[in-house]
Amino acid sequence: MSAAGDEKAKQGGWTMTPAGDHAVVDRTMHADVLSADALRRIDHEVAKYPPDQKQSAVMSALAIAQDEHRWLPPEAIDAVARHLGMPSVAVYEVATFYAMYNMKPTGRFKLTICTNLPCALQGATVAAEHLKRRLGIGFGETTGDGKFTLKEGECMGACGDAPVVLVNNKRMASYLNPPRMDALLDELSGAADDPGVRSTRR
Ligand code: FES
Repeated sequence: MSAAGDEKAKQGGWTMTPAGDHAVVDRTMHADVLSADALRRIDHEVAKYPPDQKQSAVMSALAIAQDEHRWLPPEAIDAVARHLGMPSVAVYEVATFYAMYNMKPTGRFKLTICTNLPCALQGATVAAEHLKRRLGIGFGETTGDGKFTLKEGECMGACGDAPVVLVNNKRMASYLNPPRMDALLDELSGAADDPGVRSTRR
């Protein structure tokens, strides 16, 4: 980096590591964006790979970072990159490629319904319309109370169980006719109202 670039970096509150063209951004002002517990969980994933292949844990690390924030703010992506010794842009490429990562804030419960053809032929389109009507939102939107975000998803490998909804990327709800969807929404809404209930993180 040039002297001018160094000065610009200092003014912006971040520094560049001497890692050549693929320098890792060190946003020291966001050093605590990942908790000690999150870093411990990431290290547990890193330990599954050879020492020189820490980056193999990038998807798990992003999922853990998302658990912390419900989405992936840029500072969290930078923190993952820093922890794994990767260029931030490479981590961004992973985060923006996979639909399970949230690149903007979501409601407490993200509902992803598969609308691919096999599911559509088994009622997913009708189910999606029911969810939209019941929640009063469209795909990619969040309810006014912040409880639900509705997303349209791709095949989840559960075509035989359609219609299927994935809750926060972690819990699959299957065979969703209107009564079952209503029961699911009522259950999750109640959980969102209960401060003692920890959400199924996404
Ligand atoms: S097409 Fe919907 S789960 Fe496979």
